[in-house]
Amino acid sequence: MIIKPDAVAGHHIGEIVDRVEKEGFQITGLRFLHLTMDQAEAFYAVHKKRSFFKDLVKYMTSGPVVVGRLERENAVDHWRKVIGSTDPQKAEARTIRKKFGKNIEANAVHGSDSPENGKIETDFFFA
Ligand code: CMP
Repeated sequence: MIIKPDAVAGHHIGEIVDRVEKEGFQITGLRFLHLTMDQAEAFYAVHKKRSFFKDLVKYMTSGPVVVGRLERENAVDHWRKVIGSTDPQKAEARTIRKKFGKNIEANAVHGSDSPENGKIETDFFFA
């Protein structure tokens, strides 16, 4: 997971981490850091051709984030259900994005979209 700049600035780290643990995840890595442009561009390289890429990199480097390595059975699917749709306006009730997301860009948290990408993304931040 990544707790994105808007959620960190909004003082929601505690509530989000609390939800992570209540959902049965084991936190096996947790870091507070400010992404560089190079890191944000590399992390979101799959979106390089998308119209929102430049803004996304700007936003993700606008303030500190918290990155976490979360483990549990069916982790990727479960986390995606807990965070909700990319667009907070379309996110289901009780999801993290519904509760804390501001808009489709500043949507509070990130989750990997497959176990394969989960491995790539956690290896990006954790040894
Ligand atoms: P995330 O799940 O981290 O993956 C890509 C991110 O790009 C997404 O969340 C949003 O923060 C951001 N984004 C901005 N605009 C869009 C869009 N139109 N569609 C998808 N993602 C977007």
